[in-house]
Amino acid sequence: MQRAFISEIAKYDGQEALLRGWVTQRRSKGKIHFLTLRDGTGFLQATAFKGELPEEQFEQADHLPQESAVEVRGVVRADSRAPGGYELAIRSLKVISLPSQEYRITPKEHGIDFLMENRHLWMRHRRPWAVLRVRDELERAIHDFFHQRGFIRMDAPILTPNAVEGTSDLFEVDLFDGEKAYLSQSGQLYAEAGALAFGKVYTFGPTFRAERSKTRRHLLEFWMIEPEVAFMTHEENIQLQEDLVAYLVGRVLEERREELRVLERDPARLEPTAQGRFPRLHYTQAIERVNQIARERPELGLEPLPWGEDFGAPHEAALSSQYDRPLVLERYPAAVKAFYMEPDPEDARLVLNDDLLAPEGYGEIIGGSQRIHDPELLLRKIREHGLLEEVFDWYRDLRAFGTVPHAGFGIGLERTVAWICGLQHVREAIPFPRMYTRMRP
Ligand code: 4AD
Ligand code: MG
Repeated sequence: MQRAFISEIAKYDGQEALLRGWVTQRRSKGKIHFLTLRDGTGFLQATAFKGELPEEQFEQADHLPQESAVEVRGVVRADSRAPGGYELAIRSLKVISLPSQEYRITPKEHGIDFLMENRHLWMRHRRPWAVLRVRDELERAIHDFFHQRGFIRMDAPILTPNAVEGTSDLFEVDLFDGEKAYLSQSGQLYAEAGALAFGKVYTFGPTFRAERSKTRRHLLEFWMIEPEVAFMTHEENIQLQEDLVAYLVGRVLEERREELRVLERDPARLEPTAQGRFPRLHYTQAIERVNQIARERPELGLEPLPWGEDFGAPHEAALSSQYDRPLVLERYPAAVKAFYMEPDPEDARLVLNDDLLAPEGYGEIIGGSQRIHDPELLLRKIREHGLLEEVFDWYRDLRAFGTVPHAGFGIGLERTVAWICGLQHVREAIPFPRMYTRMRP
């Protein structure tokens, strides 16, 4: 008999099916034993009725510890009382392995530190299962989105000779003979080379930032997707971001309904995002808005923000909570941004950048900009930022040969997952988080 999977159990309604998986819960009511089985694709209630399976197997079903591995054969029945709508009436039960110790993650409540310490086992449980399946869906949706639009995926290096996003948060790696390299903070500069070679590219890979912060938005190692397009302008860049984010949310709403239900994430909160038409504010308007909120709602304890400073997480939350979908903030002061951003032709103090803030207080999930394409201006900015000219030789070549306006952005995968799943913290949005306070397991 062929192995069936729980995700496709509806196909077997009224028929026999063979499942292989693990026991996650067990309870008994007189002559019935209820086993909750998981097989990776889902969770299913299996019922052992006395007399419907060999007596010794029926007895065994009453003693199977959590995480016993089993092979179960039974009849699939639609049952509106069963979680998921189907139930398996067990006809035979074979134990493949029994746990060698008592399983640690019992059905009672556990603290997050305990769960994180046992992440390798916790992954088996419903909540991480749902989150990581949403993550997988998003990863595939990202590839689909860009491939449908003719982008080439281009892998950027992880070991790099220089900083992209400022020098304060670099992880240093010893090479040979005293030489140093750094773990990549961003693949952007390489994506720019790719855009001039292939027209439209995106990178998809791990990036690293040595941030000593214990916020709910910061990881030391996170995954970033960075599209970069030759001849693309600031406006088109924002449109691409909107299209991508609307598409991603739409895909999760279509394909990962069950996971959102497990997470008790109300799909209605996500639906406006799938429609697109994201509101936009210029930096200067946003500063005025923040200060207005600070005045009108002293209970929020918001610090007033002078023009010229960057928004903190509380400012971003105050601004974005006024909308039911992401908010785009554009044209920040050059002084708070990276060296490579194109100046705003309407105001030389500003640059053609944008941050996309997720709603419900999740804050920035995307940062992007049009890039400087003028060779002299780029050299001046490299010097002004105190960066080493020779490290950027190759990057300046991109402006020496066939330079054109181009733009791109980076979307952080974990922050996107955390928002879509409604998580408290990005640590749950990645299988094995690497944080200031956690390196294990
Ligand atoms: O805004 P950032 O620093 O932009 C860049 O790195 C650009 N080079 C991207 C580009 O234009 N190609 O980072 C982009 C995104 C952030 O919006 C956030 O979602 C995520 O990367 N991110 C982090 N996610 C988790 N932990 C951290 N420490 C993060 N730092 C940035
Ligand atoms: Mg940013």
